[in-house]
Amino acid sequence: MKDPLASEVLRELRKAQRVVVFTGAGVSAESGIATFRDALTGLWTHFRAEDLATPEGFQRDPELVWGWYEARRAQVLRARPNPAHHAIAQLATHLPRVTVVTQNVDDLHERAGSAGVLHLHGSLHAPRCARCGARYPLPEASPQEPSGEGRLAPPRCGLCGGLVRPGVVWFGEMLPERELVAAQRAALGSDFLLCVGTSGVVWPAAGIPGIARDAGATVVQVNADASDLDALCHFNLRGPAGEVLPALLSAAFPGVTGEAR
Ligand code: OAD
Repeated sequence: MKDPLASEVLRELRKAQRVVVFTGAGVSAESGIATFRDALTGLWTHFRAEDLATPEGFQRDPELVWGWYEARRAQVLRARPNPAHHAIAQLATHLPRVTVVTQNVDDLHERAGSAGVLHLHGSLHAPRCARCGARYPLPEASPQEPSGEGRLAPPRCGLCGGLVRPGVVWFGEMLPERELVAAQRAALGSDFLLCVGTSGVVWPAAGIPGIARDAGATVVQVNADASDLDALCHFNLRGPAGEVLPALLSAAFPGVTGEAR
């Protein structure tokens, strides 16, 4: 780690007892998953995320919205965790308590070995009935690719016949209470928070680093660019998470490699 700040970060990290790792789309960028606001490419370039990631958007055109999310789920299934996901998972074997809190709807943290991941914005892998809320078991096979113009008819709920919707939090919807409270509690009780690859613009998730900071934790950000969290963080390490995180964590704990195990 060449970064002059790194030695102070390493000292704080090595003595940490209760760590929160708070991630956003940037941690999955090097796995080829577009960050949230880049996801509108190809078939969906003429739509805004707000048109698709809303209950109104789903009501207006369920096939377009289901097609967009199934295309994103297919992309996630084709992707692999990158060294940032692996380094985060390996960190947990070197410290007494590591809680991963993510805004991402992919399962790359879990596939790298992280357990008990708190998904504040839901998951692509947990669709449910839009009418009765029953979970919908997705078929093992990879999702159908949307038809030419990106539309795909959503499945019907086996219990009530309602339309199945993606299991993600849409604009204007509440975050899952259990995950949010658990994340806020973890931040409140943390002594170190690592914030990776988030613009910090979407609340209440973006409030997690501030809760840790106010509770006296050391807050370190890893981001390729500036973000809304820069001023709040004690240390800002600039660069791609897939490079900065393995370098930082392996310098702190030689057993962390960032390689798949
Ligand atoms: P954004 O797309 O808003 O921000 C991604 C952040 O990752 C930016 O700050 C980039 O600079 C940074 N970044 C990009 N590539 C990186 C890399 N290789 N290494 C490190 N950092 C990198 O995504 P989020 O902050 O996750 O909400 O967005 C938060 C929420 O906004 C999403 O969960 C979604 C969206 O509305 C819902 O879906 C409810």
